[in-house]
Amino acid sequence: MEIQLETQSYASVQADALVTYVFDKEGKFDGLLGEINRAMNGRLAALAASGELTAKPLETVLVHFPEAVAAQRLLLVGAGKPDKFAGASDLRKVAGTALRFLKPRGVKKIAFLTREGERGAAAAQAVVEGLITADFESDKYRSEKKNRAIDSVALLGFDGGSEVRAAIDRARVIGESVNFSRELINEPSNKLTPQILASKAEAMANEAGLGVEILDERKIAELKMGALLGVAQGSAEPPRVIVVRYQPQSVKPGGPVLGLVGKAVTFDTGGISIKPANNMEKMKYDMGGGATMLGAMRALAVLKPSIPVVAVVPATENMPGGRAQKPGDVQMAMSGKTIEVINTDAEGRLILADAVFYARKLGCTHLIDAATLTGAIEVALANVHVGAFGTPREYLDKFLESAKAAGEKMWPMPIDDEYEEMIKSNIADIRNTGSGKGGGASTGAWFIKEFVDDTPWVHLDIASTCWVDEGRPWLAKGPTGTAIRSIIDFAMKMKT
Ligand code: BES
Ligand code: MN
Ligand code: ZN
Repeated sequence: MEIQLETQSYASVQADALVTYVFDKEGKFDGLLGEINRAMNGRLAALAASGELTAKPLETVLVHFPEAVAAQRLLLVGAGKPDKFAGASDLRKVAGTALRFLKPRGVKKIAFLTREGERGAAAAQAVVEGLITADFESDKYRSEKKNRAIDSVALLGFDGGSEVRAAIDRARVIGESVNFSRELINEPSNKLTPQILASKAEAMANEAGLGVEILDERKIAELKMGALLGVAQGSAEPPRVIVVRYQPQSVKPGGPVLGLVGKAVTFDTGGISIKPANNMEKMKYDMGGGATMLGAMRALAVLKPSIPVVAVVPATENMPGGRAQKPGDVQMAMSGKTIEVINTDAEGRLILADAVFYARKLGCTHLIDAATLTGAIEVALANVHVGAFGTPREYLDKFLESAKAAGEKMWPMPIDDEYEEMIKSNIADIRNTGSGKGGGASTGAWFIKEFVDDTPWVHLDIASTCWVDEGRPWLAKGPTGTAIRSIIDFAMKMKT
């Protein structure tokens, strides 16, 4: 899909569809919309009067062969009340909704007209991110692709300066990196084993000019990553630890190094504590945290933050094979801490234990991890917010500011000392599930914290937000790519 800035007027631009958005002003049209309404002899006002055009959020009204503009169609996307419009994050949805509405209707060329007040770099970035992420389809394994393709989008009404151009380039990289991650998440587990994930990460890193190192099962054993190996031992597929590095041209010695750790369980059966059959197929997306970090790295390679960034992605299957670990087994993590495995289905925290510890060994001074860690986070936050844990609080707050800037909903979750009590073991240092009822997302986070120690750390539980079962007007159903844009924003704002 080609995207270019267009200086031509919206009235004369040749396109299959001209898109713009309408604010709910009780049927009053002003500014650009007033102009279009007048040019169309009041037809928009008539549509509003009839009740078809209400401008409620993401409503779509399509006018065919509109008089007064050269485009074949005019698509009006509802933007809701002006005082409720959140700028970039809503603009992203408006643009995405327009694309997903027009795509199955045979439209090839779109002209997107921004409104007065949203002509700058941030708006352009939002629109382009919205278009590219909306264009993603889960049809790789379908012989017949349902959706037709949009060839090009012309952006109208934006400032013509270099800032807007740079924002468009940035948005393309970010949007395509989000889709790269979603592509990985979509892959079924027979097409994406830990080894295949590692080779895809390697190919991405080489293409992007990032450093990459793949630790195989021998190296993992040599490093004594007993928690990761405990999970991997039930599978015929060997584990991998994927390390991807971004190094800026010049770094301050002793400056911060950001570590991005992502859970990549390419399939989670639960192990011996096996999961019910119902919905188990969805556990192919249990590598979503790892894909998140690889997607973020792909974008950072181009955006070039001022600090070094290291991604550490532990990859394994969680299978109930003959050699599988069993409930009650004790494993020793790389840090030397011993873990009583109460439930083999709490495997994510086990592999993260070794991965965060290893990230620190590699010199990371600040950590973010992302993981499809607990079903409990869905109980707390449904599929609305990512659960965000972290210490110290100021570090978490800083991250939440980036989430806000990126327009991704995240909510701070508690990680008080009381939760530590719940993961004490009778025979080892810690146990991998909380004793007692409740607080499952927090005990999961505490478990990881045991291996983070005092390193500033954010933990993102994306179990309920990484995948949506129902499509949204601006996004296909399936993998969402959540958290990537927040992580990118955060890394770009970190200073040496
Ligand atoms: N991968 C799952 C968590 C999950 C659940 C992700 C639903 C996406 C959707 C994780 O490994 C898991 O099984 N967690 C257990 C932990 C429990 C045994 C303490 C859970 O949440 O049930
Ligand atoms: Mn599990
Ligand atoms: Zn899991």
